[in-house]
Amino acid sequence: LKWVEPEKLSQLYFNRFPQEQNMIHLNRCADDRHRKMLSVNVTCDNIKLPNLIIVGPQKTGTSALLSFLKLHPNVTSNLNVEGSFEEMQFFGGTNYKKGFEWYQSQFLQAADNHQIIVEKTANYFDNPVTPHLLSSMLNPDSKNHELKIIAMIADPVDRAYSWYQHMRSHNDSIATKYSPEKLFSMLPGDPEYEVTNRLRQRCLKPGFYAEHVDRWLDYFPPSQIILIDAKAFRLNPTQIMDQLLIDLNLPTSNFNYATNLRYVPEKGFYCTIKKGKTKCLGASKGRKYIPISDSLRSQLNSYYAGHNRALLKLLNRYKFNVPGWLLNF
Ligand code: A3P
Repeated sequence: LKWVEPEKLSQLYFNRFPQEQNMIHLNRCADDRHRKMLSVNVTCDNIKLPNLIIVGPQKTGTSALLSFLKLHPNVTSNLNVEGSFEEMQFFGGTNYKKGFEWYQSQFLQAADNHQIIVEKTANYFDNPVTPHLLSSMLNPDSKNHELKIIAMIADPVDRAYSWYQHMRSHNDSIATKYSPEKLFSMLPGDPEYEVTNRLRQRCLKPGFYAEHVDRWLDYFPPSQIILIDAKAFRLNPTQIMDQLLIDLNLPTSNFNYATNLRYVPEKGFYCTIKKGKTKCLGASKGRKYIPISDSLRSQLNSYYAGHNRALLKLLNRYKFNVPGWLLNF
């Protein structure tokens, strides 16, 4: 042990525990002293907070999952949030500064028959501060065993490519300038490496599944985490959704997905049936683009090999189901 200047010490400390740099909002209704300091507009009687969070990652089918879940009469979600793609973007996101009172006010419409109140924010999955912030408010002292976390596990190569295509269709200057082959083959030292790095990292990093799932497991026991095989979900959502109803203890006697979902060939995906009308997700979900080339797939497969092996080990250790696409690793 040795003495160091306070500033240096705080630097060392916050490098080691970066999550502690954030102010942490707790469930203020769960503590008598905090309850007394709440704004007069907030009442803790009958407060509604989510008990299911879809954490992502982006481009794995999270919007479809949310829209399918919301078909069930005993499921509801937050109000539409403007300016953040209808997502709450709360824990570790731009809306966190609005605090507990704002967060809980987004669920006021939830009624007593809503057994599941779900929030979906697709970049919670790989945000390093999210599990800590989320568990501090919604899972204090791990007493709220009701809370479940869902992550969708897609082949990281497909996910990375889908994100690249997403950015390209949003006219991102880097994605439109560089082909995926060029973007993913640049090495540090390449003159264009730095300027392209942000996009590359957003494509690649969420796919480090073992690293991210491991972080969630620091805050939640495996029994609170549900991992869904994104490919199986895309190809056969009725089966996955019916199983999910069972896992979430939702009533299945008057509701099943075979009668509420339909494959739409023109879209190439399953869509919801509501009051006799078929509704597919918008054009930005299930885009048409050139399929990934074999050579890029094989290059990215090699890139992810270590991460995928680590994921396989982790899933086996905690007795999670192994997605079909991971069985070859
Ligand atoms: P692509 O547009 O690249 O095909 P998210 O909602 O998490 O951002 O995921 C978007 C992805 O969901 C789409 O990526 C698509 O492949 C996938 N997906 C799975 N089921 C879908 C469905 N029923 N309708 C639309 N997209 C679906």
